[in-house]
Formats: sequence, structure tokens, C-alpha cells
Amino acid sequence: MAGRDKSRTLNKKEFWDRTWKEDPDSVRSIDSYRFALINQPLQGSKILEVGCGDLRYSRIPDYSSAPESEGCYTGVDISTIALKRAKEKYGGVKRVHLVQADVTNPLPFQDDFFDEVLSFETITLLGRDFYRALKEMTRVTKHGVTFDVTHRDLARTFASHVSYTDLQYVTLLHEANYSGVAFTEENIDHLLLALGLKPEKIKTFTIFNMVNWEALTPELVEYVPDGDVKYRIYVRANKS
Ligand SMILES: C[S@@+](CC[C@H](N)C(=O)[O-])C[C@H]1O[C@@H](n2cnc3c(N)ncnc32)[C@H](O)[C@@H]1O
Repeated sequence: MAGRDKSRTLNKKEFWDRTWKEDPDSVRSIDSYRFALINQPLQGSKILEVGCGDLRYSRIPDYSSAPESEGCYTGVDISTIALKRAKEKYGGVKRVHLVQADVTNPLPFQDDFFDEVLSFETITLLGRDFYRALKEMTRVTKHGVTFDVTHRDLARTFASHVSYTDLQYVTLLHEANYSGVAFTEENIDHLLLALGLKPEKIKTFTIFNMVNWEALTPELVEYVPDGDVKYRIYVRANKS
């Protein structure tokens, strides 16, 4: 981080590019619920993942020899650095598409283009733009959206037991003047109704819970990691 110009605030893309360059592990989740959905997309489904990151720990199936109806995965991210790494892994793989775009602006897809739209560890980090992002996700999905909101406990982040990478991430957040947003189950419910979505499940997990929420196989259980994650709310909603 030496020599960084702190005289001006980073814009969104600069912030995410810098984070992916300097501190990638602090922004990669190891959420097995996410992996269940992106690694085994529902048969025949066109899946969009918003804020896909570098896909380092994912294993998206290779559909090359499968019929067209077997589905496809599209990942969108604002960071060209994250996408460059994702492309090193998945570039050229049939029916895996990686697109640079800002979800708070119109996405380059038609209405109802995807069967399902997913987003993990991203909505909470969009600041006041979160509504525009969810609106855009709703526009391009045919059936519904699944996302989570993650609440960090900054007091814990600064406590000595949290790793150095987390502290780097918070420093970057600070330099970018980033404002997170906080949600409750109740205001998510209102939010979904305002978006024309029908809440199917809204569930909060704390660091003490084990998550096995709609898991595709019984062994897909997630432990919401200790550290500075205070709680995480998973949301699944249908387009009515
Ligand atoms: C905390 S990371 C999570 C990455 C991945 N979803 C995961 O769970 O490992 C948030 C991701 O959202 C991306 N992102 C942030 N703002 C965005 C925006 N406005 N449009 C698209 N992607 C965005 C970041 O570049 C980053 O890859």
C-alpha cells in the first residue's frame, strides 16, 4: 500500500480494483450456500450472479458438451481486476460469461432474461445505491432473486483477534468514503414489496448458527464465520 495517493477519494471502481489487488481474501466469501447455487445451477437455468468477484473458490460446471437447455452462468462485477482473474479460470469455458458492469446502472441484458439472479456479500456494500441495484436485478430476472446482506461489526474488526487483511479492507473502505447500509428482516420485507417481489424466505443467521437453508444437499452446511461478521440475512423472493 506504500506510495498511495490519499489526496482524493477513490471512486467505486477504483476502490474495488484496489481491494481486489491488495486484499482479495478479505472480500472473497466461502459461503457454501452461494456455492451450492452457482456450482450446480438449477437444470436448464440461466443464472446471473451480481458481484461475482474472482470466482477463486467456485467450481462452475463445464457445460461444453451439454445441450443448450442445461443452463448457463453469467457473472457481473464492477472490478476489472476481479474479472481478469475470473477469466483466467473460466475464460473460454462455454456458457460461462463474465461481464464488467456496475449493477447500479442499467445492466446490458433484456427484461426477464435470466431465470434466477443471485448476489452475495454485495448489496450491503452498495451504500444508498442498493435500491437501484435490486431494481435492476428484479428487471432482468424471470423467476426471482436470492441475495444476502452481511453486517460487519467494526468494533470487532479493530479488535486484535481479527486478521490483518480485514484491517486493510477497512482502511480501504475508509479511504473510499464508503457508507454501508444496514437492514432488518422487517425493512427487507417492505423493500421487496416495493420492488414488486414476493418474499419467500428471509432469515437471519448469526455467528452462532449453522446454516443449512434450502441447501441442495444435506451436507451443504455453512458456518457463518467468526471474525467481524455480526450477522447475515439471506433473502429469497419471487417475481410476482
Ligand atoms: C465482498 S465482494 C463479494 C464477492 C463474491 N460475491 C463472494 O461472495 O465471494 C463484493 C463484490 O461486489 C463487486 N461490486 C461492488 N460494487 C459493485 C457494483 N456497483 N456493481 C457490480 N459489482 C460490484 C465487487 O467488485 C466485489 O467483487
